[in-house]
Amino acid sequence: MADLPPYPGTPRWVTVSGTVIGGLVMLVAVLALAGVAGPHGPGRHASPDQAGSHAGWGLLALLGVFAAIGAAVNWSGLVDRWPPTASTTMAPQLRKPVLMAHIIASISSLGAVAVFLLLAIVGLSSTNGQVVRAAYIANELIAWYVILPLILAALAIGIIQSLGTPWGLFRHYWVLAKLLLTVVTIYVLLQQMDGISHMAGVAADGAVTDADLLGLRRSMRMHAAGGLVMLLLLVALSIYKPRGMTRYGWRKQHEQ
Ligand code: HEM
Repeated sequence: MADLPPYPGTPRWVTVSGTVIGGLVMLVAVLALAGVAGPHGPGRHASPDQAGSHAGWGLLALLGVFAAIGAAVNWSGLVDRWPPTASTTMAPQLRKPVLMAHIIASISSLGAVAVFLLLAIVGLSSTNGQVVRAAYIANELIAWYVILPLILAALAIGIIQSLGTPWGLFRHYWVLAKLLLTVVTIYVLLQQMDGISHMAGVAADGAVTDADLLGLRRSMRMHAAGGLVMLLLLVALSIYKPRGMTRYGWRKQHEQ
């Protein structure tokens, strides 16, 4: 086999964002260890006297698993057998409708998160008790029956698309970044679900006063805003598709 040209190196946007994300993860870890961040996740909302869940550690473990998979793919021959032949790529007649489904699911989830954020803001700021109750009850429905299914569909179709097109799942940094950001977004959403349902239950039972579950209501607003930023970042990555191949993608391209 002819020698491959040398790998041009990791693109700067990957190094910079990787360093920033790594720094943030370490900061969260240090804060969690020092007990400054306090317990996080649904356990915190369920009852004030509970010690809290291990959501922060779960997230760190998840990021660790991704880092390990990324390293394994880049430096070993672990997934060299995928795709087995060029015929595994989707035919153009199939690729268009699959892309359409992906765009519909992902952009709709962005719209649904925007509505959720609006209702979370209304729930915190409205002085009309009925409006506040309606906002939290509606938000539970939106989270369970609109946002979660749509974002899971975007993830599933995105993976199918990546594997069925020359983009590949592990070949381009922008696809890898989308996979990572989407999984983290889904993980955080799942951690919020208990709190969202709890708030809807409280609202359905009676009036919500200004002071009721204020921490939980603020956390809903903050997480919705964070989710919206994540989804906007995902759309930007999809449209701009910043250049840069992984070591694995580079090897595959030159072998072919
Ligand atoms: C909610 C999260 C996501 C959003 C908002 C999103 C958004 C989009 C958008 C708007 C496009 C069309 C871009 C264009 O072709 O100009 C796109 C394409 C694409 N997405 Fe996603 N996406 C998401 C998740 C994912 C995931 C998890 C993967 C795979 C790991 C993925 C893989 C792809 C691929 C490979 C394409 C190009 C398909 C092709 O050229 O046929 N996406 N995405």
